[in-house]
Amino acid sequence: MNTLRVLVLQGPNLDLLGTREPAIYGTETLAEIHAALAARAAELGVAVLFFQSNHEGALIDRLHRRDFDAAIVNAAGLTHTSVSLRDALLAIERPFVEVHLSDPATREPFRRLNFLEDIALARFVGLHAAGYHRALEELVRRAAAGEIRVHGGGVVEHG
Ligand code: DQA
Repeated sequence: MNTLRVLVLQGPNLDLLGTREPAIYGTETLAEIHAALAARAAELGVAVLFFQSNHEGALIDRLHRRDFDAAIVNAAGLTHTSVSLRDALLAIERPFVEVHLSDPATREPFRRLNFLEDIALARFVGLHAAGYHRALEELVRRAAAGEIRVHGGGVVEHG
């Protein structure tokens, strides 16, 4: 059986985790979150790829590579603004789980507008780093149930 490949896509300002508004986002750095997630992925036999950018177009270009079977997406502020990121996620035909460290819906009213929630396979919000682990486990469960197509082979379908 082919290995499930999961892209972890991290949006603007998440590179500042650790020092960024720790009362809201916690004190773990993105590198620490990714290291723990990579260790969990190894236990689960899943391949994980990580990509963070502060640029909308770079995130979209990364998705267009389609060198993964499913994604974990924390689009950060772009969640509330980006039709283009939503369009990209629909265009590439790869299922994704939406993650947020905080629960945006309980914060400022403008965070209630969400361009991704209705097209996400599942959502884990307000769980801090544990949300990424729950998302990974959800994807593994669904892949085992045959609900996620595992494309296999590291083949880049569209360059
Ligand atoms: C966030 C929530 C967003 O509203 C915010 O713009 C972020 C981080 C989170 O993980 O809690 O940058 O996605």
